[in-house]
Amino acid sequence: MVSSSTKWLSSLVCFRRRLKPEVLDGEHSSHRFGTDHKEPVESSHSISTTLQQSARTSRESVAGKKRHDFSPQKEPAVVERTVSDDTLATVSVEKGSSLNQSLLVVAERQYKLVDDCAYPTLANEREVIIRPMAVGLNPIDWMSVDYNFCLPSFPWITGRECAGVVDHTGSEVTNVKVGDQVWTSTYYRDRRAGCFQQFVTVPEHTVLPMPANLNFDQASTLGVAGLTAAMTLWKWLEVTMPSVSCTAGSSPPAQATPSRSDEYLLIWGGATMTGQFATQIARLSGLKTICVASETSKSLCTSLGATHVITRDGKSPEMLLEEVQAIAADNITCAIDLVGAETASYCLRAVSTQRPVLFAPLAMMKNDMAIARNVRIETVEMKRFVLDEDNAFYAERLNSLIEAGAVKTPELDVMEGGLAVVEEGLARIKAGNRNGRKVVVRMS
Ligand SMILES: NC(=O)c1ccc[n+]([C@@H]2O[C@H](COP(=O)([O-])OP(=O)(O)OC[C@H]3O[C@@H](n4cnc5c(N)ncnc54)[C@H](OP(=O)(O)O)[C@@H]3O)[C@@H](O)[C@H]2O)c1
Repeated sequence: MVSSSTKWLSSLVCFRRRLKPEVLDGEHSSHRFGTDHKEPVESSHSISTTLQQSARTSRESVAGKKRHDFSPQKEPAVVERTVSDDTLATVSVEKGSSLNQSLLVVAERQYKLVDDCAYPTLANEREVIIRPMAVGLNPIDWMSVDYNFCLPSFPWITGRECAGVVDHTGSEVTNVKVGDQVWTSTYYRDRRAGCFQQFVTVPEHTVLPMPANLNFDQASTLGVAGLTAAMTLWKWLEVTMPSVSCTAGSSPPAQATPSRSDEYLLIWGGATMTGQFATQIARLSGLKTICVASETSKSLCTSLGATHVITRDGKSPEMLLEEVQAIAADNITCAIDLVGAETASYCLRAVSTQRPVLFAPLAMMKNDMAIARNVRIETVEMKRFVLDEDNAFYAERLNSLIEAGAVKTPELDVMEGGLAVVEEGLARIKAGNRNGRKVVVRMS
């Protein structure tokens, strides 16, 4: 069994060496998935063939039917975190005949809902198995399946955020216990962590207690949009974290932080899920915001604390740029783009030409853009939350702000029906404008 794992891992390591680092580490953001996804697509097919062959020989018959077994003993799903000898030893979980319903991506653009995957196996004793009660759907979920990137092999399991109940903990887990209500944010490289399955296995430090004032549906929106906004602002754009004590209730700080009182954060895509969180967090830090959004979403952005909302209906990006500059002059020192390559280029034209600028292109950015010397491009890598335990701090602070009522989650479009309706939910997101509403699938 171990030798089969070792073989699988060796071929994976070879595969990883052939790929560009930016592909392997690819987050779903920025310039990375413009064209680069082509390479892993080709290469992953060879891996997937190996995997499928190995899977064929390892399936067991359970209750008279074939069972899909993706446990790490046979096919380690953890890649980056567990490509080391010490993690080859996995820990069996006694769960009787529990099976794990899973929405498999079996090929490009092809899902299959199966009921008979094996209950997960821990890779180490600091992991937690969560039973999701609600999963948040995100653009990356349909994009990665439509364009075949961030899928290390087939079959894979996608889905990056959920809220649910702790079903099992490794013996060294101390922060949560079975039965706790929690949320998490996952890294796509671990198939066991894909949220479109009945049991999701993640490292302990990525498991946060559910804020008491949220239900599962609301908490399932924190792992991607909420955490991305928090970490983008606090970690990558160097915005000062607001203290929890000064944010109780919903009133903004009396004054902007003095040193940044004349600075602006530009959020191109203020009504996006991430933009909604970012606007609230910036306001709590005393940073003035300019949000670009549709007329329909103007009142939403204003209610979340945007200092200025520029409505985009019927206007060219050039016209929007003029409006941004008329408000901010040369004082945009931070910017986030949540729309795409074209708007990212307009953000770069809107920012200060004299002051130091940090810009996070969260949706996409062309590699060949000219970058002024005063501008630093921040590549937001949300995998850092999973790979660096120290980053749990950002999620804890976000939790505190939510519990204090200082940050609220987006309005929801809740779908009943569990994994069977995930594809339909992703199609809704892909179809476009949701008027600021987040699509969430209820699992129970
Ligand atoms: N790098 C990361 O880790 C990361 C994390 C989260 C999200 N993202 C990326 O960020 C983007 C946004 O995702 P999301 O889930 O936060 O939100 P979303 O659900 O994709 O946002 C949809 C909203 O975008 C707004 N929008 C559409 N076109 C626009 C335009 N031209 N200008 C301004 N706003 C526009 C629309 O609002 P209005 O029509 O009302 O304006 C629409 O309701 C996606 O590309 C996603 O992949 C990246």
